Amino acid sequence: MNRKLIDKVKSKISELSDHSTLLVRAPGRINLIGEHTDYNKGFVLPAAIDLGIYFAFSLSNDSTCRVIALDEGESLDFTLDELEPLAGFSWKNYVLGVVSRLKSQGYGIEPFNIVFTGDLPQGSGLSSSAALECGVCFGLNELFHLDLSRREMALTAQWSEHHFVGVMCGIMDQYASLFGVEDHAILLDCDSLNHEVSPIKLSDHKFLLINSEVKHSHASSGYNVRREQTEEGVEIIARTYTAVRSMRDMHIEILENCKSSLSDKSYRRCKYIIEENERVHGIVEAMKSDDLGRVGELLKQGQEGMKNGYEITCEEIDFLADFANDYQGVLGARMMGGGFGGCTINLIERSIEDQFVSDIGEAYKKEFDINSTPISVEISDGVHIISESN
Ligand code: GLA
Repeated sequence: MNRKLIDKVKSKISELSDHSTLLVRAPGRINLIGEHTDYNKGFVLPAAIDLGIYFAFSLSNDSTCRVIALDEGESLDFTLDELEPLAGFSWKNYVLGVVSRLKSQGYGIEPFNIVFTGDLPQGSGLSSSAALECGVCFGLNELFHLDLSRREMALTAQWSEHHFVGVMCGIMDQYASLFGVEDHAILLDCDSLNHEVSPIKLSDHKFLLINSEVKHSHASSGYNVRREQTEEGVEIIARTYTAVRSMRDMHIEILENCKSSLSDKSYRRCKYIIEENERVHGIVEAMKSDDLGRVGELLKQGQEGMKNGYEITCEEIDFLADFANDYQGVLGARMMGGGFGGCTINLIERSIEDQFVSDIGEAYKKEFDINSTPISVEISDGVHIISESN
């Protein structure tokens, strides 16, 4: 818990109204495995982390809603009868989308204030957007006693991203931010939305993230295109196999039988999703039997699939993953998140951490003239109220 950040939002919100303050923390997430499988109705294995966004909420003194993003040095003022997305990309649309969705579903919301700040790097594949949407939704739910379930909050947050931001994301990030459990991964079935938690026991190993500091501007369009490509594959295959409604119903035999009717791209995209779903179950099983070597092997396979099958990596990420996968003491590494930049996730022996960070940083700097950033994370609980005694 970052006390400094809590004090910052508390102090700022006290300037905005005389009403009492509600404090909320919403975490980012890592994903052990299962990339792009969520919107294909498959499986994912994320976990909430100890980096996140801190919010202060209060009722407004007048009819204006005011939201202040301390890190951006920006604020947003609006009234509850003007809830339209703003042009261009902005954090403001994540907030407006959540409020708009709640209003249009008939939830009773009155004017409010929000102040937020965080320690979660943005645009790095750690789901700062989901943390923002989920934190706002959770806080408004508390403030106005709306009685939404966490699942309804996840769906509201996802709606905001689809309709106000334009990224056709799956449900993994919102789910992880809302349902996280300390020291556990969440095995989520993205079709039924049922989940179970599974302990992460790493003893003398750890997951270490390396931020490539690369944020590709085409990330959101590339993301939506991948979604269209698998949907196209499903549509073509369903002409022959009528029971196939999504990638969830697809098996490798069906895909192979239909190979000639698919474009090479569509075939590779679909194959990656089928294999990635298998890797999710593979890692769950390997973790249950404490077989970290196998976990590492599956991470390597995931990287290969994202690079050559789904084609969502980039040269900087491939360099970091290849370097790590050749490094003594690294069990496996792969890109994590939506793609085209962001972080790699590395399963490493704790004893090599300092040397590894220094060696990979130096090699990366030499190759691309970019400073990478190591990020150590702990697995934390999902969105929650911060009580004054925390
Ligand atoms: C982004 C999306 C998620 C998921 C991942 C890739 O984080 O928001 O829904 O698709 O990319 O696994």
